[in-house]
Amino acid sequence: GKVLLAYSGGLDTSCILAWLIDQGYEVMAYMANIGQEEDFEAAQKKALAIGATKVFVEDLRKEFVEDLVWASIQANCLYEGVYLLGTSLARPVICRKQIEIAVREGCDYVSHGCTGKGNDQVRFELGYYALKPTIKVIAPWRDPAFYERFPGRPALLEYAAEKGIPVFQTAAKPWSTDENLYHISFEAGILEDPNVTPPTDMWKLTVDPEDAPNTPERIAVHFENGKPVKVENATDKGTVYTDPLELFLYLNQLGRKHGIGRIDIVENRFIGIKSRGCYETPGGTILRAAHVDLEGLTLDREVRRLKDQYAQRLSEIIYNGLWYSPEREFIMSSVEYSQKAVNGVVKLKLYKGNVIVEGRSSPNSLYDEKIASMDEAGGFNPSDSEGFIKIQSIRLRAYMTQKDLLQGG
Ligand code: ARG
Ligand code: SIN
Repeated sequence: GKVLLAYSGGLDTSCILAWLIDQGYEVMAYMANIGQEEDFEAAQKKALAIGATKVFVEDLRKEFVEDLVWASIQANCLYEGVYLLGTSLARPVICRKQIEIAVREGCDYVSHGCTGKGNDQVRFELGYYALKPTIKVIAPWRDPAFYERFPGRPALLEYAAEKGIPVFQTAAKPWSTDENLYHISFEAGILEDPNVTPPTDMWKLTVDPEDAPNTPERIAVHFENGKPVKVENATDKGTVYTDPLELFLYLNQLGRKHGIGRIDIVENRFIGIKSRGCYETPGGTILRAAHVDLEGLTLDREVRRLKDQYAQRLSEIIYNGLWYSPEREFIMSSVEYSQKAVNGVVKLKLYKGNVIVEGRSSPNSLYDEKIASMDEAGGFNPSDSEGFIKIQSIRLRAYMTQKDLLQGG
């Protein structure tokens, strides 16, 4: 049978590629460019040298930004209150193209190099099955024939030498990473002790906030329907981006320079394991702050309340690999409806790890200076508030009276 393997160019997926060939499969390799630092040409050559019959390198950066990143910004997604979902968001885009190619090339199988303990196996496979119900999945890290043969890195290295697979890394880093244009994650290795502070040279996409410039930089982010459409640098006039991918990469560059978007957390994986991870999400951190702020000005209070609940649910849905699900479609359609009002500009100051909002404006503003003002009696009769407060106090008074009776008795 034919297999389409999601290939990274690293030691694990190179050994998987060779091993699948040993098992008698015809193997094609698929690499998704989602903005990670990678020598795609070298990896392509490597896959062919190992024995892949075809190699597909797909630039998915634009659809990643426009379909996934923008949706997550519109919804204000944040998992467990801290994680911006950089890895989780990339999976649906990678899956979608892998299935598309597998179908086109007549592959009965798809394969990946995820471990049996993580979220990614769930995300990839739920995506595969949702997009192509009849597809068959080969997950070598869950197959005893594979993991018993390769119980650790030395066994993989030995096999690589035997198969003539070049191993580029001089010394493997004592943690594992997953990178795309939205973020980089660091997990495992020395990070498995949640009390071990990561070494300062681990971080890759941002400078240490302590080393960030002493002068702040100011930008304006423009939104239409909750999607960023323009970023202007207020300090360096004339620097303007409107293309989604360029705009996002520019925010990453600013976030890097000002040390924005680092976190170090312990999170709950879908399969029930707690895991310690460090993440850098520079541009995403800036955008989320701007978007949340603009909703303060433009969304109705009760819509906002509902939407906050949806943000939490949607974050779990995405984290758990359920992008291709009816519940995601349902929530996203109401998020999109709410975003009709989210138009305008947010002014930000970037300074030593911080994103500081300095003002906002919108053609759809629900803010009424006349009603809000302390200096003017406008809009409604202040004495009406007295009745409002008295009515609100009915149940508090009843509760207090009851409590006094209980304690007194
Ligand atoms: N814990 C994060 C998540 O589940 C990051 C996973 C990183 N994946 C990886 N294959 N290294 O979204
Ligand atoms: C893996 O187990 O493949 C990486 C970690 C994760 O998916 O959560």
